[in-house]
Amino acid sequence: MIELIQTGDVLHLRNAHVSYAIYLLEGGIPMHLYFGARVDSINPNAVLRHYDLPTDGHFSMQGCSLDHTPQEYPSYGMGDLREGAFTVRRFDGTRSADLRVVKVEVVEGKPALPGLPATFGDNARTLLLHMQDALLGLHAVLSYTMFEDVAGVIRSVSFQNESDQPLVLERAYSLSLELPDSRWDLITLSGAWSREREMIRRPLTMGEMRVSSLKGATSLHNSNMLFLARPETTEAQGEAIGAALVYSGNFTAAVHVDSHRTSRMMLGINDVDFSWTLAPGEAFHTPEAVTVYSRTGLDGMSAQFHTICREHLVRGQYAHAPRPILLNNWEATYFNFNEEKLLKIAETAAKVGVELFVLDDGWFGHRDDDHTSLGDWFVDKRKLPDGLTHLADGIHSLGLKFGLWFEPEMISPKSELYAAHPDWCIHIDGRERIEGRNQLILDLSREDVQDFMYHAVADILASNPIDYVKWDMNRNFSNVGSALLPPERQKELPHRYMLGLYAVLEKLVQRFPNVLFESCSSGGGRFDLGMLYYMPQTWCSDNTDALCRCRIQYSTSLVFPPFAMGSHVSAVPNHQTGRITPISTRGNVAMSGCFGYELDLNSLSEDDLNAVREQITRVKALRTTLLYGDFHRLLSPYEGNDTAWMTVSRDKREAVVMYTRAQALSFTYAPLLTLRGLDETLSYRIEETGETYSGAELMQLGLAFPLPWGDAASVSFTLHAVE
Ligand code: DGJ
Repeated sequence: MIELIQTGDVLHLRNAHVSYAIYLLEGGIPMHLYFGARVDSINPNAVLRHYDLPTDGHFSMQGCSLDHTPQEYPSYGMGDLREGAFTVRRFDGTRSADLRVVKVEVVEGKPALPGLPATFGDNARTLLLHMQDALLGLHAVLSYTMFEDVAGVIRSVSFQNESDQPLVLERAYSLSLELPDSRWDLITLSGAWSREREMIRRPLTMGEMRVSSLKGATSLHNSNMLFLARPETTEAQGEAIGAALVYSGNFTAAVHVDSHRTSRMMLGINDVDFSWTLAPGEAFHTPEAVTVYSRTGLDGMSAQFHTICREHLVRGQYAHAPRPILLNNWEATYFNFNEEKLLKIAETAAKVGVELFVLDDGWFGHRDDDHTSLGDWFVDKRKLPDGLTHLADGIHSLGLKFGLWFEPEMISPKSELYAAHPDWCIHIDGRERIEGRNQLILDLSREDVQDFMYHAVADILASNPIDYVKWDMNRNFSNVGSALLPPERQKELPHRYMLGLYAVLEKLVQRFPNVLFESCSSGGGRFDLGMLYYMPQTWCSDNTDALCRCRIQYSTSLVFPPFAMGSHVSAVPNHQTGRITPISTRGNVAMSGCFGYELDLNSLSEDDLNAVREQITRVKALRTTLLYGDFHRLLSPYEGNDTAWMTVSRDKREAVVMYTRAQALSFTYAPLLTLRGLDETLSYRIEETGETYSGAELMQLGLAFPLPWGDAASVSFTLHAVE
């Protein structure tokens, strides 16, 4: 049950797991009281005293500064000298805003968020704080949604210009969350191409800590999420708060610690290249931010995010369905293929049990390398003389589904499209058109370009039997300018680009509900909750080395469940690291995601091909548990030589445990793996050893196993509950 309890000026929103409380100060400034484990009641005096604010309810800006007041949505200019969550410029060029609550509303369910990806679900209640700045004529609505099954709150803000002059939003974050202390570690996910989302943990200190992107996408370098954990918090124990943006463009994620060591966490669209002109009557909606709370460590925090993804974000027929085991030809052939070669790979794939064959980059225009043809979405008859349908039919006749790669947001300067429409790319007149991977970015703020992109993909999907699309995006923004936007709206381009992209994606997923979409951006460069709304899986990284994948998948799982992560077995020596790892290790690591292969199976030895056959049989038997079970991280590759994780089926009757050791060490014991998430009253039979242990034993004493032999060695166990 979700309740809003209003006692005097205290608004207390709670479900069975968490409470969120707001105090309406005199004059209507919403003060933040509490976000944490569910409590029965909230007396605002504790928080008022903590911040040295008058407890008699007589708050005045002369007597006590906003600079010391925890607020729900702090503004710039009214005496709070910290960074605010939003800034508005009015016609005279000044920037100060003073929003006061004028109405409190509670609605069943969750209102739609026009044009943006958003969480959904019936078991929800939403608190809406209507606020007004009378001088500006600005109306804002702070939205707080709770779902019954999530220990968290979904936040967003809408602005409406009710004046007769334009107003310019110069900053409009989605979330500001104040915490009464700073005794937290900040965890962020930062990295680079092929080593995405490295988990970085450091204590909060006075001042500001920030990760951000101005790359036009979430980026390979920083993720649009942040996590706070008490210094003593571990995987299994302690407090943690997580926040993630449901968005895929430029972002800022920051924590400010002030001189009193209180903390302000903020998340939203990066304002360095953002502004939004609101003409009279116009509205602006921020993307939403998911905030979750855990008293059971990072494991508990991830469980909340995973529930959000599984129950409230992913849509379509694949949302809860087994994902097909795929083979992608990229690392098998790169650009060098023809129909015969592809069919040969597909034939072997079909024989060992693969279900989907994906043709990656290079099938269109005249694309023999990455220098040309993006935008020319017609089939390259040199490679596929009989066309796509012919190839797709050939693949289908082998009993496989057929998937196709696109990079629709891009344009190669060497393309027919560019020759016809040189102004369709993002550019600034007079400046060099800086290329990234030899390509430019289409200006998706333009409706004509959106239309082109929609039809480029839709026409191919409509005229060929295609079951899956890999949607790639391989470069960052530079020289951000649009040929159509007026000067005062150029800073709207990065967000308009996202709105344009989302509009096209929405049309495509509605029109082609049977197509499985996988998002990709030079690997995992746009791994965010925004893309997950349209595409139920994301390619984790171009790095397919099993040991590197241990790190990448481990940290990705902080927010994303296994069904969101594309993970494939590739050839050795690995194309990104040169490392040779056993096929069993590659299989075990890839199994904890949307499983597949990224190699020419014909080049494998008979033994390895048999191993592949067995892996596929095993994944098919276990994939509901592997994809949709509860995921637990057991040993961190960021802390040592070992990685371990496990998934437990929702009914707790089946579990799969994975352990991988990076470097062989002689005369050492294997770790006793203390498992999590099992039913302690059940007994579990371990398929690989034939032994039976109780759930309690496995979770308290641990699972013992002989240490595997050699570098990059891995074992995996399947547990079945027995009566
Ligand atoms: C980048 C992707 O991450 C790869 O998997 C592959 O699709 C290439 N692009 C193709 O150009």
